[in-house]
Amino acid sequence: MKKILVTGGLGFIGSHTVVELVQAGYEPVIIDDLSNSHVSILDQLTAIIGYKPVFHQLDLCDEAAVQNLAATETDIEGIIHFAAFKAVGESVQFPLKYYRNNFYSLINLLNAYAGKPVNFVFSSSCTVYGQPDQLPVTEDAPVKPAQSPYGNTKQIAEEMLQDMMASGSKYKVISLRYFNPVGAHESALIGELPIGVPQNLVPFITQTAIGKREKVTVFGNDYNTPDGSCVRDYIHVVDLAKAHVAALRLMEQDSFTGYDVFNIGTGKGTSVLEIITAFERATGVKLNYVIGPRRDGDVEQVWGDVTKSEQVLQWRAELGVDTMMSSAWAWEQAIAKKPL
Ligand code: UD1
Repeated sequence: MKKILVTGGLGFIGSHTVVELVQAGYEPVIIDDLSNSHVSILDQLTAIIGYKPVFHQLDLCDEAAVQNLAATETDIEGIIHFAAFKAVGESVQFPLKYYRNNFYSLINLLNAYAGKPVNFVFSSSCTVYGQPDQLPVTEDAPVKPAQSPYGNTKQIAEEMLQDMMASGSKYKVISLRYFNPVGAHESALIGELPIGVPQNLVPFITQTAIGKREKVTVFGNDYNTPDGSCVRDYIHVVDLAKAHVAALRLMEQDSFTGYDVFNIGTGKGTSVLEIITAFERATGVKLNYVIGPRRDGDVEQVWGDVTKSEQVLQWRAELGVDTMMSSAWAWEQAIAKKPL
């Protein structure tokens, strides 16, 4: 079986990707430092996939530890690199923490497996587009100056990967630019586990619905959008996880060489108010929400053109907003009943 290193494999997107990898016949090897994840996700994964996956608790910024890992896990055919800090606001407050973590980990990992023909998937983000001039945004749209150190780490990492490939590396590399991942696995055994107060919309909604938070604040209803609230391309995390399998499959073909980048979204924009309506419709739960001021740094609207992903990756999102909301709600209820 083809072994795939999954860094950040106990995190939100990582854990869902582990499940999809197993279903597609791969053998995931999980790396995680547990800085923003819970070790009990390993048991949850075991319950879904039927065996306990290999797990190394490891800080990828520790160069010696990563070299040691590469010496132990030698027959790796692919690496999916999720492990990174991702809180936009925190990155503005502690930029060096973000640059240090997101770059050291990437560089150590690439160095450790350099010289081997490994297929590498990098977690990038639609944040590289900023507020695009044209919607839906295509992969060749100009990259805008980053709005946050977090966003800058994604832009620079993409450039680093391209420079590495131009230097004649043995890697093949695909960057996946995620739009807004939400929802949870249908088993309700894995999902998003925000530490502290959630910054992202959907966990804030589910925590409000369950009574952990008093109300959701809609950050602005005076944008130039159909209902005045911001528009994003929300994508079910299971669809997103499957895109990683598609990326590996593409790189396994001899015809694929070098580096490429794909938008991973649904191709549809949904506003904050539409998300709230979808949540209420899909779950039957009335949500307490108010309209508040805009949040600093938010782009008004962004959604992706996914033509290239459909044609080249042979992947497309299948799950709609209602399933995103009902699965996120089932997960919130499951962890309220039985905390991890
Ligand atoms: C941003 C980044 C994304 C990054 C993610 C990680 C962009 C375009 N996107 O996503 O790359 O991976 O952060 O955290 O930069 N909202 C509310 N009330 C809330 C929370 C959010 O109204 O309590 C609104 C926001 O204004 C936004 C939408 O909901 O319009 C989604 O927000 P959020 O879930 O935080 O994701 P982004 O900011 O789009």
